[in-house]
Amino acid sequence: MTNPYLAQHLPDVLPGDPMHWAAAWLDEATSQSVQRNPNSMTLVTVADNGQPSARVVLCKDFVAEPGYLVFYTNYKSRKIRELDTNPQVAVTFHWDALGRQIRIEGTAVLSPAAESDAYFASRNRGSQLGAWGSDQSAPLTSREALLRQLRERAHELGLNVSDDVQSIENDGRTIIPRPGHWGGVRVWASAVELWIEGGDRIHERGRWQRTLDRKNEHVFVAGEWRGTRLQP
Ligand SMILES: Cc1cc2nc3c(=O)[nH]c(=O)nc-3n(C[C@H](O)[C@H](O)[C@H](O)COP(=O)(O)O)c2cc1C
Repeated sequence: MTNPYLAQHLPDVLPGDPMHWAAAWLDEATSQSVQRNPNSMTLVTVADNGQPSARVVLCKDFVAEPGYLVFYTNYKSRKIRELDTNPQVAVTFHWDALGRQIRIEGTAVLSPAAESDAYFASRNRGSQLGAWGSDQSAPLTSREALLRQLRERAHELGLNVSDDVQSIENDGRTIIPRPGHWGGVRVWASAVELWIEGGDRIHERGRWQRTLDRKNEHVFVAGEWRGTRLQP
Protein backbone atom coordinates (compact mmCIF):
# COMPACT_ATOMS: atom_id res chain seq x y z
CA MET A 1 0.00 0.00 0.00
CA THR A 2 1.36 3.46 -0.86
CA ASN A 3 2.23 5.63 2.13
CA PRO A 4 0.16 8.84 1.73
CA TYR A 5 2.86 10.76 3.65
CA LEU A 6 5.33 10.08 0.82
CA ALA A 7 3.09 11.51 -1.95
CA GLN A 8 4.55 14.16 -4.27
CA HIS A 9 1.77 16.66 -3.51
CA LEU A 10 0.10 17.97 -0.40
CA PRO A 11 -3.58 16.96 -0.31
CA ASP A 12 -6.14 19.78 -0.70
CA VAL A 13 -7.40 19.12 2.81
CA LEU A 14 -4.27 19.16 4.95
CA PRO A 15 -4.03 16.31 7.48
CA GLY A 16 -4.46 17.15 11.15
CA ASP A 17 -1.00 16.21 12.38
CA PRO A 18 2.17 17.17 10.48
CA MET A 19 4.52 15.39 12.90
CA HIS A 20 3.62 11.89 11.65
CA TRP A 21 4.19 13.17 8.15
CA ALA A 22 7.56 14.67 9.06
CA ALA A 23 8.54 11.43 10.83
CA ALA A 24 7.74 9.46 7.65
CA TRP A 25 10.03 11.75 5.65
CA LEU A 26 12.86 11.31 8.17
CA ASP A 27 12.33 7.52 8.12
CA GLU A 28 12.48 7.44 4.34
CA ALA A 29 15.61 9.63 4.18
CA THR A 30 17.23 7.30 6.73
CA SER A 31 16.16 3.98 5.19
CA GLN A 32 17.24 5.15 1.72
CA SER A 33 20.51 6.65 3.06
CA VAL A 34 19.92 9.63 0.79
CA GLN A 35 22.94 11.44 2.26
CA ARG A 36 25.49 11.04 5.04
CA ASN A 37 23.79 11.85 8.33
CA PRO A 38 20.23 11.98 6.95
CA ASN A 39 19.15 12.86 10.52
CA SER A 40 21.22 16.05 10.56
CA MET A 41 19.32 19.24 11.18
CA THR A 42 20.21 22.90 11.48
CA LEU A 43 19.36 24.23 14.92
CA VAL A 44 18.96 27.95 15.49
CA THR A 45 19.11 29.53 18.94
CA VAL A 46 18.94 33.22 19.81
CA ALA A 47 21.18 34.94 22.37
CA ASP A 48 19.67 37.41 24.82
CA ASN A 49 21.02 40.31 22.72
CA GLY A 50 18.89 39.05 19.80
CA GLN A 51 21.77 37.52 17.83
CA PRO A 52 20.71 34.20 16.22
CA SER A 53 23.25 31.41 15.72
CA ALA A 54 22.92 28.21 13.69
CA ARG A 55 24.70 24.87 13.82
CA VAL A 56 24.08 21.29 12.68
CA VAL A 57 23.16 18.61 15.24
CA LEU A 58 21.84 15.07 14.84
CA CYS A 59 18.21 14.23 15.53
CA LYS A 60 18.38 11.06 17.63
CA ASP A 61 14.67 10.65 18.29
CA PHE A 62 11.58 12.00 16.54
CA VAL A 63 8.50 11.49 18.68
CA ALA A 64 5.55 12.32 16.45
CA GLU A 65 3.12 11.90 19.33
CA PRO A 66 3.03 14.12 21.44
CA GLY A 67 5.36 15.96 19.09
CA TYR A 68 9.01 16.63 19.93
CA LEU A 69 12.44 15.68 18.66
CA VAL A 70 15.63 15.01 20.60
CA PHE A 71 19.29 15.86 20.08
CA TYR A 72 22.26 15.34 22.39
CA THR A 73 24.90 17.85 23.33
CA ASN A 74 27.11 19.38 25.99
CA TYR A 75 24.99 21.37 28.45
CA LYS A 76 27.78 23.96 28.84
CA SER A 77 27.94 24.67 25.11
CA ARG A 78 26.99 27.99 23.55
CA LYS A 79 23.66 26.64 22.28
CA ILE A 80 22.56 25.56 25.76
CA ARG A 81 23.75 28.81 27.35
CA GLU A 82 21.52 30.59 24.83
CA LEU A 83 18.60 28.26 25.55
CA ASP A 84 18.89 29.08 29.25
CA THR A 85 17.75 32.62 28.57
CA ASN A 86 15.66 31.98 25.44
CA PRO A 87 14.29 28.44 24.95
CA GLN A 88 12.67 29.31 21.59
CA VAL A 89 14.39 27.49 18.72
CA ALA A 90 14.06 26.78 15.02
CA VAL A 91 15.16 23.61 13.25
CA THR A 92 15.39 22.68 9.57
CA PHE A 93 15.95 19.35 7.83
CA HIS A 94 16.73 19.31 4.11
CA TRP A 95 17.00 16.26 1.87
CA ASP A 96 18.08 17.50 -1.53
CA ALA A 97 17.77 14.04 -3.13
CA LEU A 98 14.13 13.85 -2.04
CA GLY A 99 13.26 17.49 -2.73
CA ARG A 100 11.94 17.94 0.79
CA GLN A 101 12.46 20.39 3.62
CA ILE A 102 10.98 20.39 7.12
CA ARG A 103 10.97 23.54 9.24
CA ILE A 104 10.12 23.27 12.91
CA GLU A 105 9.77 26.02 15.47
CA GLY A 106 9.32 25.32 19.12
CA THR A 107 10.56 25.34 22.68
CA ALA A 108 13.56 23.42 23.99
CA VAL A 109 13.79 21.71 27.38
CA LEU A 110 16.39 19.29 28.74
CA SER A 111 15.52 15.58 28.47
CA PRO A 112 14.82 13.59 31.66
CA ALA A 113 18.14 12.35 33.13
CA ALA A 114 17.10 8.69 32.83
CA GLU A 115 16.56 9.11 29.10
CA SER A 116 20.00 10.70 28.66
CA ASP A 117 21.55 7.91 30.77
CA ALA A 118 19.98 5.24 28.55
CA TYR A 119 21.15 6.93 25.35
CA PHE A 120 24.66 7.54 26.71
CA ALA A 121 24.95 3.87 27.73
CA SER A 122 24.11 2.85 24.14
CA ARG A 123 26.98 4.89 22.63
CA ASN A 124 30.40 3.44 21.79
CA ARG A 125 33.15 4.01 24.34
CA GLY A 126 35.05 6.47 22.16
CA SER A 127 31.98 8.72 21.97
CA GLN A 128 31.42 8.29 25.71
CA LEU A 129 34.97 9.41 26.44
CA GLY A 130 34.54 12.29 23.98
CA ALA A 131 31.66 13.62 26.06
CA TRP A 132 34.01 13.82 29.06
CA GLY A 133 37.00 15.04 27.11
CA SER A 134 35.69 18.16 25.39
CA ASP A 135 34.41 21.34 27.05
CA GLN A 136 32.36 22.12 23.95
CA SER A 137 32.45 25.77 22.84
CA ALA A 138 35.21 26.75 25.33
CA PRO A 139 38.47 28.22 23.91
CA LEU A 140 41.36 25.83 23.15
CA THR A 141 45.05 26.61 22.61
CA SER A 142 45.91 23.63 20.33
CA ARG A 143 44.87 20.18 19.17
CA GLU A 144 47.59 18.72 21.39
CA ALA A 145 46.07 20.50 24.40
CA LEU A 146 42.74 18.80 23.65
CA LEU A 147 44.41 15.37 23.35
CA ARG A 148 46.22 15.98 26.64
CA GLN A 149 42.94 16.94 28.31
CA LEU A 150 41.28 13.79 26.90
CA ARG A 151 44.12 11.56 28.17
CA GLU A 152 43.97 13.17 31.61
CA ARG A 153 40.23 12.77 31.88
CA ALA A 154 40.42 9.19 30.61
CA HIS A 155 42.99 8.50 33.33
CA GLU A 156 40.70 10.03 35.97
CA LEU A 157 37.96 7.68 34.77
CA GLY A 158 40.32 4.71 35.18
CA LEU A 159 40.78 4.21 31.42
CA ASN A 160 43.99 3.67 29.47
CA VAL A 161 44.01 5.33 26.07
CA SER A 162 46.61 5.40 23.33
CA ASP A 163 48.62 8.64 22.93
CA ASP A 164 46.51 9.70 19.94
CA VAL A 165 43.37 8.83 21.94
CA GLN A 166 42.18 6.70 19.03
CA SER A 167 41.77 3.56 21.08
CA ILE A 168 40.74 2.88 24.62
CA GLU A 169 43.03 0.10 25.75
CA ASN A 170 43.06 -2.33 28.65
CA ASP A 171 40.09 -0.72 30.25
CA GLY A 172 38.53 -4.01 31.30
CA ARG A 173 34.91 -3.47 32.11
CA THR A 174 35.24 0.04 33.49
CA ILE A 175 31.86 1.65 32.95
CA ILE A 176 32.01 5.22 31.69
CA PRO A 177 29.23 7.15 33.46
CA ARG A 178 27.33 9.93 31.70
CA PRO A 179 28.80 13.34 32.55
CA GLY A 180 26.19 15.53 34.22
CA HIS A 181 26.95 18.26 31.68
CA TRP A 182 26.04 16.09 28.67
CA GLY A 183 22.59 14.89 27.67
CA GLY A 184 19.50 15.24 25.57
CA VAL A 185 17.42 18.24 24.58
CA ARG A 186 13.79 17.94 23.56
CA VAL A 187 12.50 20.39 20.98
CA TRP A 188 8.73 20.57 21.37
CA ALA A 189 7.15 21.64 18.10
CA SER A 190 4.69 24.54 18.05
CA ALA A 191 4.96 25.13 14.28
CA VAL A 192 5.85 22.79 11.42
CA GLU A 193 6.25 23.51 7.73
CA LEU A 194 6.50 20.76 5.13
CA TRP A 195 7.98 21.81 1.80
CA ILE A 196 7.95 19.71 -1.37
CA GLU A 197 10.07 20.78 -4.32
CA GLY A 198 8.08 21.29 -7.51
CA GLY A 199 8.98 21.89 -11.15
CA ASP A 200 9.41 25.51 -12.29
CA ARG A 201 9.59 26.59 -8.65
CA ILE A 202 5.95 25.57 -8.09
CA HIS A 203 6.81 24.20 -4.69
CA GLU A 204 4.24 23.06 -2.17
CA ARG A 205 4.13 24.34 1.38
CA GLY A 206 1.92 23.47 4.32
CA ARG A 207 2.35 25.19 7.67
CA TRP A 208 0.79 23.98 10.92
CA GLN A 209 0.67 25.67 14.31
CA ARG A 210 -0.48 24.69 17.78
CA THR A 211 -0.25 26.00 21.32
CA LEU A 212 2.11 24.54 23.94
CA ASP A 213 1.40 24.85 27.66
CA ARG A 214 4.14 23.85 30.05
CA LYS A 215 3.11 20.89 32.21
CA ASN A 216 6.41 20.16 33.95
CA GLU A 217 10.18 20.37 33.47
CA HIS A 218 10.17 18.08 30.43
CA VAL A 219 6.60 18.01 29.12
CA PHE A 220 4.11 20.34 27.44
CA VAL A 221 0.37 19.95 26.89
CA ALA A 222 -0.21 20.63 23.22
CA GLY A 223 -3.30 22.11 21.53
CA GLU A 224 -4.73 20.96 18.19
CA TRP A 225 -2.66 21.43 15.04
CA ARG A 226 -4.13 23.90 12.52
CA GLY A 227 -2.75 23.72 9.00
CA THR A 228 -2.63 26.29 6.19
CA ARG A 229 -1.34 25.93 2.65
CA LEU A 230 1.18 28.65 1.74
CA GLN A 231 2.29 30.09 -1.58
CA PRO A 232 5.79 29.01 -2.55
C1 LIG B 1 26.91 16.49 10.64
C2 LIG B 1 27.14 17.14 11.99
C3 LIG B 1 26.54 16.58 13.10
C4 LIG B 1 26.71 17.16 14.36
N1 LIG B 1 26.05 16.64 15.44
C5 LIG B 1 26.14 17.24 16.64
C6 LIG B 1 25.33 16.78 17.72
O1 LIG B 1 24.50 15.87 17.61
N2 LIG B 1 25.49 17.42 18.92
C7 LIG B 1 26.37 18.45 19.10
O2 LIG B 1 26.46 18.97 20.21
N3 LIG B 1 27.11 18.93 18.08
C8 LIG B 1 27.01 18.35 16.85
N4 LIG B 1 27.74 18.83 15.78
C9 LIG B 1 28.64 19.97 16.02
C10 LIG B 1 27.83 21.28 16.04
O3 LIG B 1 27.52 21.67 14.72
C11 LIG B 1 28.55 22.43 16.79
O4 LIG B 1 29.85 22.62 16.27
C12 LIG B 1 28.68 22.16 18.29
O5 LIG B 1 27.50 21.58 18.82
C13 LIG B 1 28.98 23.46 19.06
O6 LIG B 1 27.95 24.39 18.84
P1 LIG B 1 27.70 25.65 19.83
O7 LIG B 1 29.05 26.21 20.16
O8 LIG B 1 26.85 26.58 19.04
O9 LIG B 1 27.00 25.10 21.05
C14 LIG B 1 27.56 18.29 14.51
C15 LIG B 1 28.15 18.85 13.37
C16 LIG B 1 27.93 18.30 12.13
C17 LIG B 1 28.53 18.96 10.92
